[in-house]
Parts: sequence; structure tokens; C-alpha cells
Amino acid sequence: MSNKEGARTPQPVEDERVALKARKVSFSWEDTPLHWVPGDPFATHTINVLHLLLPAGERWFVHVYKQVLPYIRDERLREDVIGFIGQEAMHSQAHDEVLPHLREQGLDPTPYTAQIDWFFEKLLGDRTLPPGRARRWWLLERVALIAAIEHYTAFLGDWVLNAGELDRRGADPTMLDLLRWHGAEEVEHRSVAFDLFTHVDGGYRRRVRTWAVAFAALLFLWQRGARFFMENDPTLVDGRASFTAFYVRGRRGTLPATGALLRSIPRYLSRTYHPSQEASTAQAVAYLASSPAALAAESATRTAGTDTGAAEGHGQGKGVA
Ligand SMILES: [Fe+2]
Ligand SMILES: [Fe+2]
Repeated sequence: MSNKEGARTPQPVEDERVALKARKVSFSWEDTPLHWVPGDPFATHTINVLHLLLPAGERWFVHVYKQVLPYIRDERLREDVIGFIGQEAMHSQAHDEVLPHLREQGLDPTPYTAQIDWFFEKLLGDRTLPPGRARRWWLLERVALIAAIEHYTAFLGDWVLNAGELDRRGADPTMLDLLRWHGAEEVEHRSVAFDLFTHVDGGYRRRVRTWAVAFAALLFLWQRGARFFMENDPTLVDGRASFTAFYVRGRRGTLPATGALLRSIPRYLSRTYHPSQEASTAQAVAYLASSPAALAAESATRTAGTDTGAAEGHGQGKGVA
């Protein structure tokens, strides 16, 4: 490859790669207040939109990726994609489990989640297409869309890992752990979707086109979700969501800053972009090593392993005396 070509192709940072594993976490929500960012329903609900979008969205990632597996001709990438599928399935479930808690607090998200389910399952679902070019085109288009969305999940993961202002304002520790466990795994696997897209297609025009669709859809769904929560929050008299409120929280540090969001756009569209250039795997791994939920998952796995070992030992006549 000539230097000129190298300068125009994605430049991965090899040290940022890590073997992926799904951590089987669980959270208990009894003590989490409705406004888990104290005194700030808007910041709370803007982040709560994740619980509306991610269950269906991440199930959709898994659905699409299972269809792409047969097209992967690189063993290392296949392992990454399988690890990614395991992590996203767990994320989807963990966010889904917050919804009954919102319902108990008088905020029923069903009217909105029904629309999101339709969006991912029908609009972005499998179409009745003839096998061959059309079917493959639709699959590649969705793989590219996921790569663009994952640019933002990594952006948000990096943001929440560093959002010290949420701690300073006394945000609920269980919710922070859910967001940071998820955010850390997003940072951990941030290169997989882009590597997969590069492997099966990687066309620059497709990257730009699908970024535009993903960005517009995320903005649209996010502001609608925030509005839905603010208008239906039983404790608010005239709850409203606005861009100004978002901008102010961004400056304060309780939501991502508008400037940082805007600056992330040209980075994704750069021909040398690779997700490993963003965020820090070391920080993500360090968080996962101390996350209460991830640690509980780790010890549950170890206990299950010990139990299985003991049971196997008995079976072989090697039980304890
Ligand atoms: Fe995720
Ligand atoms: Fe992800």
C-alpha cells in the first residue's frame, strides 16, 4: 500500500483491542427514585430515553449480526462479532428491566416503546426480498447503519464514564452503574461494528449515507422520547423538553455537551477514522473491574463454576469426605 493510500484508509490502534465477554449482570431498582438525577427531571428523562430505544435497538443489532455471521471470513473478527452479540443481548435485557420500575412510578412507557418496536422490527426488519442482490444490499445497509450507531454508543459510553458531575449531584448509584457498565462495554467493543462493516463492504459513500440516516433518526427519536417522558411524568405540571435545556445541561456536565456531539461528526466521516482512535479501553476495563454489577456477575459465574465442579466431582466419586 502506498503512503497516499494509507493516509486515506481507516487507521486502527491495535493496543485498544480486547477479547470480549458478556457479563451477566442484574440490578435491583427498588431504591431508585423517579428523578434519579436529583432535582433534574430533564437530565433524568433525557438519559432515560436509552431504556426506550435500547431494548428493541440492541435486539435488532443481534438479529442483523446473526445473519451476517456466514459472510465473515476472518476468525478474529468472527470471535469479536460473537462477543459483541453476547454483550448487546445483555444490554438490551438490562435496560428492558428498568421499564416495569418506571411503570410502578406512574410513568408507563408502552405507547412509546410500541413505536420503537415497530421501527426496529418492521421498518428496519427483514424485508420480503428475493435472495441475491436486493437481500444482500439491505443487509449491508443495516450493517453500515449499526456501525454509525455504534459511533454514538461509544461516544455516550465514554461520556458517562467521565461524567463526574452526575456523581457530584448525587445521581442514583444503581442507575449510574447500569449506565457505566453498559458504557464501558460499548467502549470495549467500539471497533467491532466498524470492522465488520469494513470487512463486508466498507464503501465510503455508504458510510456517509448511513451516518446521515442514523444521526437524523437518533436525534428524532431522542427528542421525541425526552418529550414523551417530560409530558407524561406524573410529578410535573407542565413538563417540557427543549434544545436550550439540553444545551444548558451539556455545559453543566449532566448531559453530553452539544459542541462535543458536533465535533464527533467529522471524525466519523474522516476517511482515516477508526473507532479505536476514540475513548480508552483501559478506562473501560478498569471500570468493569470495579462495577458492582459486573463484580456480582463475575462472582456468580465463579460460584456456578465451583458448584458444577463439585457436582462433577461427586459424579466421579471424588466428593469431599
Ligand atoms: Fe450496548
Ligand atoms: Fe454496542
